[in-house]
Amino acid sequence: GNVDDKERFLQGKHVLISAGPTREKVDPVRFFTNRSSGKMGFALAEAAAQAGAEVTLIAGPTSQVVSHPQINRIDILTAEEMYQAMHANFASNDIVIKAAAVADYRPKIIYDQKMKKQDGEWQVAMERTKDILHSLGERKEGQFLVGFAAESEEPIENGLRKLAYKNLDAIVINNIAAEGAGFEGDTNVVTYINKHQNTESIPLASKKEIATQLLTLIANDLKDEVV
Ligand code: CTP
Ligand code: CA
Repeated sequence: GNVDDKERFLQGKHVLISAGPTREKVDPVRFFTNRSSGKMGFALAEAAAQAGAEVTLIAGPTSQVVSHPQINRIDILTAEEMYQAMHANFASNDIVIKAAAVADYRPKIIYDQKMKKQDGEWQVAMERTKDILHSLGERKEGQFLVGFAAESEEPIENGLRKLAYKNLDAIVINNIAAEGAGFEGDTNVVTYINKHQNTESIPLASKKEIATQLLTLIANDLKDEVV
């Protein structure tokens, strides 16, 4: 082929990506969320589109913007809405990447009116959200399923446990304690491990560069599987 073939290494592929945090309301003015900026997931969406893929991006509330016309962005707020959107789009995609930082807990009761302060403590009862990635792993039919793991201790061990438990084809481990890694910043340090436990360490780089490297690894693993 010509020179462009190499750069358009996801030509014809459908890629589903989730990015950003979720937001769990407790009353009309208050919510629980986390430090995810959405930068890693949006960088993956842009890089996949540049590589020729049709991208669907399920985005939690972030200030990130999409520029490539081949990205269909769907905005959601809660973990439950992300669950619905991911499942609605799952079957029609070849590669599914869950870069989002999903709330593990949400308030059990969402108050219709703004809570008034009172003397003493306010206890907010929290309940578990669904594990979206685990549920996708259960209904997988040929999709190449990639998770992220945010770890502050024993990153590889914890990441490998998630890879197995969630029936993933690969996991991207974020050691959030490493210099230049994790939330909010423009750089990251990650380790990519596929289900055969082949391990690739990607040293400190911009989230854009890391996105392209990750998609290259994913495309190679996908090719090996099809053969
Ligand atoms: N994830 C998900 N649904 C959830 C929680 C997490 O789909 N309710 C996904 C994330 O998008 C990520 C992966 O699971 O791709 C790992 O998320 P992480 O928070 O690192 O792991 P958890 O399984 O939530 O375990 P813990 O937070 O206890 O380490
Ligand atoms: Ca979690």
